[in-house]
Parts: sequence; structure tokens; C-alpha cells
Amino acid sequence: MTDADQLRSSYLAFFEKRGHATVPSASLVPENDPTTLFTGSGMQPMVPFLLGQSHPKGKRICNSQKSFRSQDVEEVGDNRHTTFFEMLGNWSLGDYFKHEQLAWFFEFLTKDVKLDPARLYVSVFAGNDGLGIPRDQESADIWQQLFKAAGIKAEATDYQPKLGLGQARIFFYDEKKNWWSRSGEPTKMPAGEPGGPDSEVFYDFGAQLQLHEQSEFKDQLCHPNCDCGRFLEIGNSVFMQYLKQADGSFKELPQKNVDFGGGLERILAAKNNDQDVFSTDLFQPIITELEQLSGKRYKETEFIGSFRVIADHLRAAVMLAADGVFPSNKEQGYFSRRLVRRAIRHSHKLGIKKQLLKHLVPIITKMYEKPYPEVSEQVSKITDALVKEEEKFIKTLYKALHEFDKFLSHKFGKVGGAKQAFVTPADAFRFYESWGWPIEIFIEEATSKGVSLVSVDDFRSEFESEKAKHAEKSRTASIGKFKGGLQDASEQTIKYHTATHLLQAALRKVLGEHVQQKGSNITQDRLRFDFSHSHSISVDEQNQIMALIQNWIAADLPVSRQTMSKQAALESGAIAFFIEKYPDQVSVYTIGNNPESAWISKELCGGPHVSRTAEIGQLQWLKEQPVAAGIRRIYLK
Ligand code: ALA
Repeated sequence: MTDADQLRSSYLAFFEKRGHATVPSASLVPENDPTTLFTGSGMQPMVPFLLGQSHPKGKRICNSQKSFRSQDVEEVGDNRHTTFFEMLGNWSLGDYFKHEQLAWFFEFLTKDVKLDPARLYVSVFAGNDGLGIPRDQESADIWQQLFKAAGIKAEATDYQPKLGLGQARIFFYDEKKNWWSRSGEPTKMPAGEPGGPDSEVFYDFGAQLQLHEQSEFKDQLCHPNCDCGRFLEIGNSVFMQYLKQADGSFKELPQKNVDFGGGLERILAAKNNDQDVFSTDLFQPIITELEQLSGKRYKETEFIGSFRVIADHLRAAVMLAADGVFPSNKEQGYFSRRLVRRAIRHSHKLGIKKQLLKHLVPIITKMYEKPYPEVSEQVSKITDALVKEEEKFIKTLYKALHEFDKFLSHKFGKVGGAKQAFVTPADAFRFYESWGWPIEIFIEEATSKGVSLVSVDDFRSEFESEKAKHAEKSRTASIGKFKGGLQDASEQTIKYHTATHLLQAALRKVLGEHVQQKGSNITQDRLRFDFSHSHSISVDEQNQIMALIQNWIAADLPVSRQTMSKQAALESGAIAFFIEKYPDQVSVYTIGNNPESAWISKELCGGPHVSRTAEIGQLQWLKEQPVAAGIRRIYLK
């Protein structure tokens, strides 16, 4: 058994002993959650139960959840960021609360993992009067007792930049640090979203390592949330007890929940007392193979970043493939493509000339075979698909690199050989189109050749709009080409999908603008739609809603799709939830005669939809019911 397998099992066994049922990890591709492309925490699949729906396995649940955070792709290369990770989680669904949670996690860390309690620091929520959320003195007191029982005097203090660490071990921070919800701090949460104050545990890798003094933060005083690398957050207990209201205030949820998440890789790094997660046995087999293939050492600083990018990206690509995400140019698949291609480019930086994936993929699948059957069941399918992607990419890579050099020398030539050149997002798009280069590769190649980009963020977003413009053009072309032929009128689910947009528009007209989509689920037989609303729907309201929908269907309104910037979409009146989770370029579906003036529905949405409302045909009311405080559910068929 590897250390990782052992840690995962001992965590689950610890919580099983305390009455928890272990549930399997949900897929990395969330089901029925249009707000996000990937599962990024163990909490996401638990939302309905945190809101009050009863969980078939009871009130105490634990698991190890596969998580993928695409937004962390830029961070990979340091000693602790990864795109894929396993989140150890335990939940109290209206059962135990702060006392049990903090004591158990402390016991697990100090007794089972055998971490030295003197290396642990914690943070708690300082409270916010404006939001009506009190200071979490209770958690601070519990921590003080726990440390005291371990023979450690733990002072609590409000974090102050001028004091740094001081003598304290328990730190109060504001909602930027000690509040958790899927959409971040309280003001960013949409109505109907659950969240709460949290308490994080940090492992101290030791002042003697002088990590802080050697970091870019050396002019500030170090503290648990400092990014210098001395402290690593290894677990977060969220006290999921509030529901955001339409007026911006917070109400207590009908039940007080605990949502705990801790990174398996990070707890393992703490256990090893080595702050490099890539030194854990979740990565070492990959790194060792890479050392052999390249003849280079992982610890050679010049190459360490490439080792980490390859190890992280290929591991993520394997786990995505096990959940059905293979390299492609669309949605989730494009993330897989970017991961594989960037890993391959970095393998060349290590001087590896051989094919890489046939060596590495089996090493990765082997590590995850036992805990995740979806991996063991598909080893050859995963390997074949990823090896094929590698073959496709390397076929043109050398030619592409040659073209890139030519292109750059031309650019440099233009400004008289000076070490300054201008590359544009349109250039990046050309390399994407001709050679399949993800934007990261273009940026990395350009910067490694001395080109400086004023702002990588702007460059990226302009590249994305270039791409979206192009995608829209070719989409329009293909619709024209196949007009009347390709539309699959038998696709009941597509009809229901468009019907959910009509339903939401009707609900907002009849019940009010506070109505926001909270989820949906569509099968061949019916559509289900969850939304924020505080009381049941009267027969009169129901009649009005259905009359509106049926009129819109009868009017055979056109459904059109536009691509635009997020900003422009919102200004045009489009509705969107979890807006910050959308990319800068979004697709907007409009239902109505004239998209500019007479539309009845405009939503940020990835589609697909019918092209005219009459295609939806008959639609009838099945039932309406409550799902949680402030959330109702409607079924139509
Ligand atoms: N859901 C919490 C997190 O992801 C535990 O940090």
C-alpha cells in the first residue's frame, strides 16, 4: 500500500468509526449543474443535502472526492499547486457541529497522521456586523482547549499585518479568508446559495527553513495565510449554516451543516514534513520515470517546473479520461487537450525525444486503480486515447516550432534586431488553428525567446475572443450548409432544455425577478427545474405561468445564439448565475422576435436549443414541490 492509499483509507476509517457512511467520489464532470464545467470540491455534489434534502446514507457522510480546478493551471510549477487533487471530505447534514468537527480533525491529524501539534496553526472567522454574521469566538475557544489538552498554550488574535505571527496560534481573519461558498465571499454569492464561516488548519514547515525570508514576501511579516510557502493549508471546516437572501442578507439554513475538505496531497506533504507535494508517492513514480527518460534530475532547479507540469497535467488528463473527458476542441475536452499538449511540450524541454505517454499513463492508472474502479475498468481505453493525442500533436510539433522561429525572427527583424517584439492574440490564434497550439504553449514559447507581453491576462482574453469570433463564423457556415437537414427534431431533451428557458422567463414574469435558477435536470420524459422562491405556487399563478409558456410556443418565436463578452451580455439584460464562473467570452441564447427589443428570454447558456419555440410542442404541468428553504421545484412534461 502506498502512503497515499494508506492516508485515504485511514481518513475514511476514522470517520466511519464515528458513524459516517463512505460514498463514492462523484464524477469530475458535474451532473445537472450547468454553472461549472468540473467538480472542484467535495461539497458540490452535496448541495441538495446541505439545503435540507435527506441523504439516502444518513446525516454523516464522508468520501475522497476527485477534484479538478482548471483555474489553477497557471499556478502549476510551484511546490503545492495541482489541477487535479483528491479532497478528503466529511459532512454533517444537520447533525454534529463545531465541537465534534474541530476535535475530530485535530485528533485525526495528531493521532492518526501523527503530525506534531506544535506545527499546527488555525484560522477562524472574525465576524462582519454589516452582514449580521457574528465573530466565531466559539471555534477559537474550542481550538484553545484542544491545543491546551495537547500541552500547547495557544493565543488567539485578530490578524494584523503589523504584528505578523507574534505569539499567536489562532488567527481571526475576515470573510476574504474565512468564509466559504461555491461562489466565494458573501457579497459574491447569488441568492439561494449556501455558505458559512470556516476554520482552516495550516501546517508549519518551519521558520528554520527561512522560507519566508527567501520569498518575495520578505518585506512583510509572515502569518498563516502568507503565500511564502512556510505554511500550507491542509484542511478547511466550513460551518455551512447560512443561505443568501434576495435582498443580500443572510438567513440561517433550517439545519446547521459541516462541510469539511482537506487535500490528500497536502496532508501527505505535511506528514512527510516536506512542503513539495510532488515529492509524495502520488507523484514520485511519475517523476522517477521522467528522470529515467530524460536523464535529468528532478531537483535540478532549471527543470523542476517542467517535471511538475508534466506530472500534474498527465495525472489530471488520465483522471478526466476515466470520467469520459477525452482530448477534443470542445468544452471539457479542450482542457484535456491543453493538458496533454503542454505536458508534451515540457517533455521536450527535458530533452525527451521518445514518446512519453505510453510510459507514463500506465504508471498513473496503476496508482488509481484501487481507489477508483472507473480507472481500472478503462486502462486501455484511457491509454489509447491519450497516446493518440500525443501522436497527433507531435506529428506537427517540430514543423510548428520551426515556423514559430521563422515567425519570431521576422518580428525581431522588423524592430531592428532589438530584443523586443510584438506578438498579437491573432498570431496566437494562427498557431492554434494551424498547429493546434494551446495558448499556453504560444505564450511560453514567446516569453522563453525574450518576447515580453504587457499583460498575459489581456492577451489571453483577446485570444479567446478571436477564437469565439471564429467559432461563431464556422457555426453559421455549417448551419447554412445543412439547413433543414441536421436539426434533430426527435431530440426531446433539447426541446425540454429550451422549455426551461421559457419556464424561467414565465416564472420571473408571474412571481417576480427574484426567481433564479438553482438547478435543472432533464430526461426524455420530463424536465425538472429548481428555483429560488419562498412559498408554494397557487393554482392561479400556475395557470398564468402555463398560459405564457403556451403562448410563446404557439407564437413560434426564433431562438438565436450570440457570442459576446460577459460584460456586454450582462448589459444586454441576459441573466446568468455564478457569473464569475463563466469565461470572458460567453454564448447567449435569446428567444424572441427581435433580439434587440422584443425578446422574452436571454440567458447565458452553452446550448443546445431548438431553433424555434414551436418545435417544443405540447407542454404540461406535472407538479410543484419544495426542495429546501427558499427553493421550489417544478416538473413539466
Ligand atoms: N468546501 C470546502 C472547500 O472546498 C471544504 O474548501
